[in-house]
Amino acid sequence: AASGTRPSVVWLHFGECTGCSEAFLRTPNVGAIILETISVEYHETIMAASGHQAEKSLEQAIKTHKGKFICVVEGSIATAYNGAYGKVGGRTFLEIANDVIPKAAVTIALGTCAAYGGIPSAAPNPGGYKGVKDAIGVATINISGCPPNPLNLLSTIVKYLNKETIELDELGRPLFAYAETVHDRCPRLKHFENDEFVEEFGSKEAELGYCLYHMGCKGPETYNNCPTAKFNDGTSFPIQAGHPCIGCSEPDFWDTMTPFYEE
Ligand code: SF4
Ligand code: SF4
Ligand code: F3S
Repeated sequence: AASGTRPSVVWLHFGECTGCSEAFLRTPNVGAIILETISVEYHETIMAASGHQAEKSLEQAIKTHKGKFICVVEGSIATAYNGAYGKVGGRTFLEIANDVIPKAAVTIALGTCAAYGGIPSAAPNPGGYKGVKDAIGVATINISGCPPNPLNLLSTIVKYLNKETIELDELGRPLFAYAETVHDRCPRLKHFENDEFVEEFGSKEAELGYCLYHMGCKGPETYNNCPTAKFNDGTSFPIQAGHPCIGCSEPDFWDTMTPFYEE
């Protein structure tokens, strides 16, 4: 891609569902700003190249922009059996990660998979899937969420380009987005405080927008800014749509927050 003065981004896909990419591509305003702010040199979902040509463009991008590019990683990395559980173009995720990521200026682990292992690392995890930091021992900025909010990716990129300090919590997440729990900012908080709970989907209480705690809501233990950032260009987020929070921005949520529909 012609980069001009826009910073180059190499976007790697490992063990994932592409939901992180989908979330930002389905957010027209934010997605457009991201694509205008950066120059995506490599992204398997949206690039025209395929096969050997794609591998070549990755090689080329890294050579040209070594030490300067932003690496966005989507998905977790298989570490057991020498990384045998995940490959792209004949190379393991582990090999690709060790080759590309140390050459980046900064690495953003986008989504709970890249940040902490996510669903691919759910028990019993035979492939030994891990988040980027744990898999190869590099520092990452973790934009967790399954999917993460594209607004948080955009804000992180803009702050990075403006050389602003990005303060992180102990799990590597930017505090501007992850300092408070979903519960802290939930539009249903008043109902929680008034002991007004939904006990059944489709009920009168559900219709009245009562608190979803008894339906398994994990908002009180989940750090993310969904209630204020919202998805799809500020349209809605799970709780607003009537579904309890499943804790998707927390490490190991698939193992530690389940069963999702139980308190
Ligand atoms: Fe998919 Fe969630 Fe992993 Fe993103 S974090 S790749 S949405 S499973
Ligand atoms: Fe808290 Fe969830 Fe109830 Fe909202 S719906 S007030 S996050 S328990
Ligand atoms: Fe995830 Fe809970 Fe927000 S499930 S999208 S952190 S409301």
